[in-house]
Formats: sequence, structure tokens, C-alpha cells
Amino acid sequence: MRTQVAIVGAGPAGLMLSHLLHLQGIESVVLETRSRAAIEATVRAGVLEQSTVDLMTATGVAERLLKEGYPHHGVYLRFDGHNHFIDVYELMGGKTVTVYPQHEVIKDLVAARLAAGGDLRFEVSEVRVGDFDTERPWVTFRHEGAEVRLDCDFIAGCDGSQGICRPSIPAGAYTIYDKVYPFSWFGILAEAPSAGKLIYSYHEKGFALVSSRTPTLQRMYFQVDPLDSVANWPDERIWSEFYARLEGADGWTFESGKIIKKDIIGMRSYVIEPMQYGRMFLAGDAAHIVPPTGAKGLNLAIADVKHLADGLKYFYTTGQTGELDAYSDKCLRRVWRAEHFSWWMTSMLHRFPDDDKFQQKLQLSQLRYVVSSHAASYSLAENYVGFEG
Ligand code: FAD
Ligand code: DHB
Repeated sequence: MRTQVAIVGAGPAGLMLSHLLHLQGIESVVLETRSRAAIEATVRAGVLEQSTVDLMTATGVAERLLKEGYPHHGVYLRFDGHNHFIDVYELMGGKTVTVYPQHEVIKDLVAARLAAGGDLRFEVSEVRVGDFDTERPWVTFRHEGAEVRLDCDFIAGCDGSQGICRPSIPAGAYTIYDKVYPFSWFGILAEAPSAGKLIYSYHEKGFALVSSRTPTLQRMYFQVDPLDSVANWPDERIWSEFYARLEGADGWTFESGKIIKKDIIGMRSYVIEPMQYGRMFLAGDAAHIVPPTGAKGLNLAIADVKHLADGLKYFYTTGQTGELDAYSDKCLRRVWRAEHFSWWMTSMLHRFPDDDKFQQKLQLSQLRYVVSSHAASYSLAENYVGFEG
């Protein structure tokens, strides 16, 4: 088999890349280890930046997003027993974020690719990449019992943090920047009436987050020890933990409901530089991970593949590799801004095992500053909505 661009991984990065390339008349094949049903049901991120919404709209895959997405005019920082609103929409002159779950984005992109006759191979195994230091890279895999070899011009490594593309780059050709946090997030999805808000809460018992996905579906998180397990958390214990961490003098409260999903999400920051080697380009979580506190992971994946699609278009139109050569540098500017913002939000809002009263005073001072200074609120809003500069 032969194609122009072999894409490993059908997450947001791989699917959006395939969609953008198709719109530019460039062929691709997408290889995915999991089933279509599995990728369309995996609950992950939920917040789309304005530029992600704009790109989906401009490329014709936003029909459901525009109908069912939940635009939030801003976010609340909850501390000192009160909700403090950062009016992102007002501060950013009409730009904002939209809550629309990642698996819905996946469904929309899969449907668009299949409707356009796209070649998506689900449930492949034994994926290997090779010769990407030459002009004739290949990918081999097993699909429906057969061994397949796919020759291509380029490989896009969109296979997430546990994929095979990044480890295939020769040691010594890259630098890794890595940080692991001393807590994880316990996440639930609950059928419960909407709180109507996105709330990041700092509390002496630890961080909690309320994300209203739809009027009847809440995604909520609280920080736990990284060694904790879902089995330790029966439903009643989860709700009493949320009530304890979200109580306050203002009397704000929320309604509990039926928990339909529980998971624990590790927290880490990770970047590989450069994000390319020869004719293989890494995009999304394959190249960088952020802790979820800034809601950046999915949006970075989409921003990467926009650059990659532009670079590939330039190559196929002119025969020049200039734009592709600059891919990593272009992506890393935004990646490092998001790495900093996610680390900063994480540091400001979580309890650290070794923090002391001094540290907590600093966190509270920072939170009070962010909500009372125009410059500081503006900075949070600018980063939250997605800083592209
Ligand atoms: P992925 O979505 O990981 O897609 C990679 C795809 O490649 C997967 O479908 C995988 O099955 C496939 N694959 C892997 N190996 C191979 C292989 N060898 N061959 C072929 N296919 C392969 N971000 C937030 O901002 N907020 C959140 O609340 C949040 N929650 C998260 C919860 C979880 C459990 C996880 C794991 C991530 C979460 N994230 C969150 C991060 C966000 O979901 C990711 O940044 C986003 O999915 C990145 O998209 P991607 O396409 O780069 O990678
Ligand atoms: C959600 C996830 C986030 O990481 C975040 O910062 C806000 C909302 C969510 O899953 O809805």
C-alpha cells in the first residue's frame, strides 16, 4: 500500500490532521489500535479554545458543536468561601471557551472522514515505523489477520503519550523535559442538574473542579494521592468530599446525582524537543503532555496539526521543505506557553504534600491578586482562551 501521509493514532490530532489534509487534496491513511466504538466512548478533556472552535467551524465539522456545545463566558476561581468570576468573554473582546467533550469531537471527525471516503483502519496491531530518516518512510502493521506495509512520504506520530512513534526516534536526537506532580485527579461524570459554571476551587482539603458539560451532565474532579484507587471511593464518599471542598460562606452549592463514570488521571508536564526527526513529525500528546488544570491538552493537539497540515500543503505545492523544517519551532512556542500556564494554574490551586502555611498564604495572595487586578485577570483570560502569539 502507498499513501502520502501515514498517520499513526486516531485521537483529535490524527483525525483532524487527516481531515485538514483531505481538504487540501493530500491523501492519508489513519491507523488506530483501538476500535471505533472505544475511541468514541473514552471520556477525556472537555474545554475547547476559541481557535479550536473556529477551526472546526471553518472546516465544516462544527454542526453539532455549535448546537450542543456549552459556551462559558468565563471561569470561576473559588477560594475564601466565595466564587470569583473571571469574565473571559468580556476581557477577550468576545472570544471564549466552549465545553464540548473530546469524544464528541472524535465522533464528528470520524464521521466526516468516513463520509469523504477516508481510509481509517481501526484495531490494528504491531505498528512499526521505519526509514523516516530517508525520503521513503514506511509503516507496517497487522490488520484483519494480514501483515500490511504502508509506504509513504511522511509519517505523522499522533499516537498519544503511550505510542510507538516517539520511542522510535534514535536516542541522542532529542531532549526530554519532564515533571511529575505529587497528586492525581479523581474524575467523575454524573447525571446531575447543571451548576451552569466552570469552577476551579482552592480549599485547604485540596483542589476541586466543577465543569458543566450539558444541562444534565456534570464532569467533576478533585485531587487525590497518586497511589489512590477508584475502589477506595464509593459514591457517598465522593459526594461528601466534593461538598467539603466546595462549601463556603457564600452558601453556594450544587446538586449531586448518579455517578456514571469514575477515573483517576495522572498529572505530569512533558515536552520532547524537537518534535520531528527526518520525515516523522510528532503532534499532540505524542510530543507533549500538560497537567489538565489549564484544559490545554486537546487544544494543543489541534494547534500542532494545523501547522503540520500547512507545512505539508506547502511541500506538495512547491516541493520545498522550508515550512516543514520550521514545524517544531512553530509548535513549541505555543506548547511552552501552555506548559507554563498549566503548571502555574496547577501550582496556584493544589495542595502539595510538603507545603507549609507560608506556601498557602502565597497561593491565597496570588488568587486574590488574579481576581482583583485587571492585568492579572486579563493574563489568565488570555491564556485560558488560548494564546497564539
Ligand atoms: P490521544 O487522544 O491520546 O490519541 C492517540 C490515539 O493513538 C489513541 O486513540 C490511541 O489509541 C492511539 N494509539 C496509541 N498507540 C498507537 C499505536 N501504536 N498505533 C496506532 N494507534 C495508537 N486534557 C484536558 O485538557 N482536560 C482533561 O480533563 C483531560 N482529561 C484527560 C483524561 C485522560 C484519562 C487522558 C489520558 C487525557 C486527558 N486530557 C485532558 C488530555 C487530552 O485528552 C489529550 O491532550 C488529547 O487526547 C491529545 O490528543 P492526541 O490526539 O494527541 O492523543
Ligand atoms: C474539564 C477538564 C479540564 O481539565 C478543565 O480544566 C476544565 C474542564 C472537563 O473535563 O470538562
